[in-house]
Amino acid sequence: MQKLLVFSDLHIQDSTIIGLDPIARFTDAFAHALANHPDAQGIVLMGDLTHSGTASEYEMLKPMLADTRMPVTYMMGNHDRREAFVQVFPQATLDNAGFIQTGFDIGDWCVLTLDTLDGPPYHDRHHSGRLCSDRLGWLADMLEQAKDRPITIFTHHPFGDIGFSKLDEIKLENGMDVLGILRSHPMPVHILSGHVHRTISGQWDGVSYTVFKSTCHQNPLNLNEKHTYKFVDEPGGYSVVLFDGPNLIIHTEDFFGA
Ligand SMILES: [Fe+2]
Ligand SMILES: [Fe+2]
Repeated sequence: MQKLLVFSDLHIQDSTIIGLDPIARFTDAFAHALANHPDAQGIVLMGDLTHSGTASEYEMLKPMLADTRMPVTYMMGNHDRREAFVQVFPQATLDNAGFIQTGFDIGDWCVLTLDTLDGPPYHDRHHSGRLCSDRLGWLADMLEQAKDRPITIFTHHPFGDIGFSKLDEIKLENGMDVLGILRSHPMPVHILSGHVHRTISGQWDGVSYTVFKSTCHQNPLNLNEKHTYKFVDEPGGYSVVLFDGPNLIIHTEDFFGA
């Protein structure tokens, strides 16, 4: 059995968010995960690595990851900025067009991590995601190469609605187009997403998905049409994804210190 440790929505900055310290929260999550899962094959950071996408915030994140020898796969969220990230993490894997997305095999599975950050150009307070034609082409190529292997897609932005009206306004804008591409793959596909700051699972247009909570601040369960961005102090979480032959097993862990 192969294992990945997944962290989403770190929102690293040097001040608190609703009274919570994102650096302390991620430090606790990372320590808890490494102490309990030293046998993991790798780590995926699912975007919103920082709160404002500045080089100084990526500099704060860098030493927090220095003590692990596991390979780390980085992803972009709407709060990130690609150029500042690459300046601090030049070793991150880029595709041929310079987007921060990659693919790798683990067990019987093929993992693809998408870069759904819309831009450049970037627009202030624009938080929905988009896969441009270059990135859609990359996805089609990777699906072709995966052939008869099952696929796990990591995407910061959800492809479809999750029932929180404000978050549904800022999902992946062309998510339905991407789902159409995924459904053409002959083998099982499962989508793992962040962005929402709450643990959710379901199915979009015939494709199953799981959404992970943040390591820091969480979104309360509010399904009425007046949903707002009012975050709450609930335990932070991370995920342990197991690849067991043809089976995919997804655990979530709410941590309370290492
Ligand atoms: Fe976030
Ligand atoms: Fe986000």
